Amino acid sequence: MAASDASPYRAPIGTHDVLPPDSERWIEVVRRFADRAARFGYGLVITPIFEHAEVFERIGDSTDVVRKEMYELVDRADRRLALRPEGTAPVVRAYVQHRPTPPWKTWYVAPNFRYERPQKGRYRQHWQLGAEVLGVDDPDVDVEVIALAHGFYADLGLRQVRLLVNSMGAPEDRAGYIDVLQRYLLDHADGLGAEFRQRAEQHPLRVLDAKQEDWQDVIERAPQLTEHLSDASRAHFERVQEGLEALGIAHELAPRLVRGFDYYTSTTFEFASDALDAAQNAVGGGGRYDRLAEEMGGPATPGIGFGMGIERVLIVCDAEGVTLGRAGPALDAFVIDPGVGEAATLMVAALREAGLRADRAYGGRSMKAQMKMADRAAASYGLILGPDEIARDVVTVKALFADMGSDKQVEVPRAQVAAWLLQRREERAR
Ligand code: HAM
Repeated sequence: MAASDASPYRAPIGTHDVLPPDSERWIEVVRRFADRAARFGYGLVITPIFEHAEVFERIGDSTDVVRKEMYELVDRADRRLALRPEGTAPVVRAYVQHRPTPPWKTWYVAPNFRYERPQKGRYRQHWQLGAEVLGVDDPDVDVEVIALAHGFYADLGLRQVRLLVNSMGAPEDRAGYIDVLQRYLLDHADGLGAEFRQRAEQHPLRVLDAKQEDWQDVIERAPQLTEHLSDASRAHFERVQEGLEALGIAHELAPRLVRGFDYYTSTTFEFASDALDAAQNAVGGGGRYDRLAEEMGGPATPGIGFGMGIERVLIVCDAEGVTLGRAGPALDAFVIDPGVGEAATLMVAALREAGLRADRAYGGRSMKAQMKMADRAAASYGLILGPDEIARDVVTVKALFADMGSDKQVEVPRAQVAAWLLQRREERAR
């Protein structure tokens, strides 16, 4: 029986463990995002994994993420708390609480929790990389935020991620449009079932991003929000598109792109990949939320940001054949210890301090077992430190995942091993 079948304990449904070596890819994705965010002048924000439930209830009662999917709990002092379902509300809450000087440019990496029906690319715990900028309503910031995300996908080497943009207008623009849309939907509701009618009555915008096949005809012919924008909203959206064009960032207008949170105003966008199932093809998305800080009791402060699911980014990398993580051997050296005092301990310590990736076996295993471990650890070299080597103050270096030409093994003076390995690594990198 496989070890995994022996225990009744498993990660909860819709969650997953990330283990080595796959976790190498996670480090790489986060590192590249952090690097890009730093280049754009964004600072890391870390907020708690749970907040008062009201923080999220602010972001919308027409939002499934809040209405149906939130993990809520009551703590021992009867406080209503919720595990973070998304990253924007906590950042805005932190802004309102701490009042940093705007513009406040931030990024984050954090787990999010949604009680969704799990399937590939949709989990009950997923991780997001994201960025939020508070305090600037200039459309150039919309362009900067989109460029940050867009460049990240390009950094990874992804070629098939499409950028969709839309404007949801100011809430005033939207109110007029919702009336028009609702009338249209109810006029065309015959034969489309009770759910269609109910959604059209309660949340007409939510009909626009529905996936039901038989609704699509009516959805496609529906009046569009962009036709109902105020002059100011229209001008803002045009400036965003011009900015994207100036930077050479290809984008498609998506007038039916209605993102799932009530807080959005004006610019909204999504990055879609055809490598994902159509039902959840978003690798990232975001938009403006110019009223949210005020709704949370803070000063009127415009904001814009995006979030992207790390798991989905990795699925898309797989589909596009993008390999992340370290190429080549995982270790520079594996020290084989035939049990001669502390020699191996000292050697591994010295190599690690010199900046090399080194490991060893423990527990007095046979030479053969240790060689096997060195192989499994994918080390460039095995270093043998037996009594003979110790007596002559040398190390026998065996090539494992490295090329030493015709030499299968060489002897290197003990004091020079670190320098020798560093030089080999440098040569390999060239
Ligand atoms: P969202 O569209 O709900 O937006 O999520 C952002 C991204 O997280 C999605 O595009 C997707 O890649 C990933 N994602 C969402 N749900 C799941 C899930 N159940 N499993 C796996 N991945 C998932 C937000 O959360 C907003 N806070 C984005 C934002 C930031 N808007 C403004 N600022």
